[in-house]
This record gives sequence, structure tokens and C-alpha cells, in this order.
Amino acid sequence: MKKPTSIRSPAGKLGILLPGMGAVATTTMAGVLLARAGKGLPVGALSQMGTIRLGKRTDKRVPKISEFVPLAGLDQLEFGGWDIFPDNAFEAAQHARVLERDHLEAVKGELEQIRPMKGVFYPGYVKRLHGTHIKTAGTKAEMVEQVRDDIRTFKRDRACDRLVAVWCGSTEAFITTGPVHASVDAFEDGLRRDDPGISNAQIYAWACMKERVPFANGAPNLCVDFPAAWDMAREYNVPLAGKDFKTGQTLMKTILAPGFKARMLGLAGWYSTNILGNRDGEVLDDPDSFRTKEVSKLGVLDHILQPELYPQLYGELVHKVRIDYYQPRGDSKEGWDNIDLFGWLGYPMQMKVNFLCRDSILAAPVVLDLAIFLDLAQRADLRGTQEWLSFYFKSPMTAPGLYPEHDLFIQLMKLKNTLRWMVGEPTISHLGTEYYD
Ligand SMILES: NC(=O)c1ccc[n+]([C@@H]2O[C@H](COP(=O)([O-])OP(=O)(O)OC[C@H]3O[C@@H](n4cnc5c(N)ncnc54)[C@H](O)[C@@H]3O)[C@@H](O)[C@H]2O)c1
Repeated sequence: MKKPTSIRSPAGKLGILLPGMGAVATTTMAGVLLARAGKGLPVGALSQMGTIRLGKRTDKRVPKISEFVPLAGLDQLEFGGWDIFPDNAFEAAQHARVLERDHLEAVKGELEQIRPMKGVFYPGYVKRLHGTHIKTAGTKAEMVEQVRDDIRTFKRDRACDRLVAVWCGSTEAFITTGPVHASVDAFEDGLRRDDPGISNAQIYAWACMKERVPFANGAPNLCVDFPAAWDMAREYNVPLAGKDFKTGQTLMKTILAPGFKARMLGLAGWYSTNILGNRDGEVLDDPDSFRTKEVSKLGVLDHILQPELYPQLYGELVHKVRIDYYQPRGDSKEGWDNIDLFGWLGYPMQMKVNFLCRDSILAAPVVLDLAIFLDLAQRADLRGTQEWLSFYFKSPMTAPGLYPEHDLFIQLMKLKNTLRWMVGEPTISHLGTEYYD
């Protein structure tokens, strides 16, 4: 990737478009409104709270990331979105039951103003939902045009200078890359023919790319990770990122597994189960949607542990992932991990992790960071897959033929080095010999 020569100023308004205004999207919106009113801290967002070391450790130069690279500030953000139900962001947030009443009441007026545009909904991709607030069009190609029209109208009406989009819609059924995804022409043709390989999420993404709006996919379904999308992103100078927000159990996996591997501890089994009762859980109760999630969750350990290099330590690993829809739990997910590991001479040990997390509380800062960093990427003229944003994803997108980096700490190093590289600051290798010369 070519190093940016300059980064355009973040002045003006940045519109954040979220297709899918459910628990994650509304928690993000409410959180930003609360944070900018001084009524809450944007905990978990690197763009708001993170720092970056520059130069040698002895230089003591550690600015906040937001002071080091030119980022849009929270008060410059404007939210919009689409959903297949007509609830405004306040109603949807109430329904999601993530944030407490006091928090929602404090920003009620602003949330009520965020009303979803009608969604693109071909129901076969999310069988558990029966949308009522949906567009009608003769073909998928016409659908793309309608979404493009929404984007332009939103930008004009809200006086935005730039836009970014993050897919926060439900997880769609498992589809693999087919001939329709092979090139821009094949995809455009598929849109006109209503090809079943083109899902709702792909229609939003295509419309965004045509409007030069950077796009991130927060769900595990196929959306912008195929050759047609990469070519399109290159042609239209659009940064892309995906896929599947890394929160909860997988976040823990990518923290723990690199640690075991770093110390050459073996793993015989890793059994993960989750209970959750929100709409996401309901959608994932459908086997087709669960399959998409399962693939995304299972890939992580294989890539981190590299069993082909360490057959004695990881060659026999049994890895299972379960998700159970259990209504009483709402958004307060509970993840259980049973890890069977072994040490010196093969002696077995066990570790149990019981993470009582809150899915949307962990996902909201990820959405915010992705929006802020994708906007930065576009102002720096970066386009196509932004691998430096792997930090935020369970199944990071990479260049074809390249395996994804899942280790959270390598991902963070990559992210920070990319920021240094963008502004012409030396990257940091952590070699450290200079202190001993
Ligand atoms: N919360 C997390 O920790 C986390 C982590 C990784 C991935 N995700 C993914 O993020 C997405 C959002 O999660 P959530 O908890 O907010 O789910 P949610 O069910 O609360 O919200 C999803 C919203 O998308 C809407 N929707 C579905 N199809 C749509 C379409 N075609 N157009 C517009 N809107 C549509 C639904 O009506 C719903 O309001 C899910 O795909 C989930 O798997 C979440």
C-alpha cells in the first residue's frame, strides 16, 4: 500500500450510517450522544481513550491517538440508518434493553430524531425476522439505486461533509463466494438478474461503495469479502473492513490463546458455549444464521495456534462452539469456556472462563472506532481492505492468499504502526537494542 502523502482535514460533519438499528447500533448512538454531553465515558474506544508511544521509551512522548492523527471529534458526528422495523432509535434502544432508562431519557430527544430509512429486505437471508418497514423494487439493481438515493438525501439534509457505514444488521444465512462475486461486471449483472448469491447486506455495501462511502461489516456474513467488492473499492477509492465484531468470547480467545502459544503450552480441547436472549440470539437460533457465526468463531484458534507448525501441541485440539437462545438473559450474554490444556510432560490442566459480558456494551466502541478510523483512512487515500483494522474483527479480511492475523496484541501493534506510518512517524519494532549501546 502506498504511504499517504497527506491526510485531508477532518473538518465538517461526519455522517455515520448504520444499516440495522438494533441493540448494537442504538447503544453506539446513545453512547456517543451521552459522551459528548459529558454524561458518560466512551470506555473501550481507542479513538477516544487510547494513547500512542512515539520514538524511544526514554523520549516520554505518548500523545492521545486523537491528538496524534487528525480524527473527527464526537461533536462532529451525525447518525442515520436503515431498519426493517420503523422504530426510531429511542424506541429501538428501549426494545433492546441494553442501556438503563436514565441514560436513554437523557438523550431521548436526539434519539427520537434518528428514524430508520426503509430497509432492503429479501427475507430468505434472515428467516426469523418479518420486516414491515421495507423497500420494494423491481430488481436488486433498482434496490441499490434506492439505497444510493437514501445516502445522497441523508448527506444533503444533514449537511454532512463525509459519510461512513458500518453494517449492524442481523447475521445473514451462510453463503459462499460464487461466480456472481467474481468481478464488478458479474455482480452488476447479478443485481439485474436478482441472483440469490447477492444478499441484503451486499446491496447496502454496493450502494455505499458507489457513493464512495467507506464500509465495515460487523456481522459474519459474506458482504464485502469477495473480488467484485475489492475491485469496486479500488475503482471508487473506498476503504473496506470486516468482518464480525470481535467482542465477548472471541475477544477472550484471542487474548488467552496467544498467551498459551507464547509459552508453548498444549491444548487438547476448547469448549465454548454462550447463552443470550436478545434479537441477535433469536436470529442465531436459525441454523443457517448460526452456521455463518460458527464458521467465523471456529477459525480463530486454528490461525492463532498454527497446528501445522506445532502438531504435538495443537494437532489434536477439539474445538466446539455453541450458542443458545435463552430469552431471560436479554443482552447480558453469558459465555462459558472450558479449556483443557497441558504442560510439561503432557500433564493436564483445566481453565474455566465464565464471562458475564454485555454484548452491545463491548460492540459499541468497536463501531465508533471503525467509523472514525475508516474516515481517517479515506482522508489518507487508503482504499480496499484495511487490514490494520483486524483488531476489531473475529474474521479479519485480508488480501487473497494471506492468512489473517488473529492475535489481539499483534493486531494492536499493526494498528498503531499504521497510524505512525500514515503521518510519517517512525514505526516501532520493539527491538530495543538502542538502550544498551
Ligand atoms: N453485539 C456483539 O457483541 C456482536 C459481535 C459480533 C457481531 N455482532 C453482529 O452485529 C449485528 C447486530 O447485532 P445486534 O445485537 O444489534 O442485533 P439486533 O438483532 O439487535 O439488531 C439487528 C438489527 O438489524 C435489523 N435488520 C435485519 N435485517 C436488516 C436489513 N436487511 N436491513 C436493515 N436492517 C436489518 C433488525 O431488524 C435489527 O433491528 C448482528 O449481525 C450480530 O451478529 C454483534
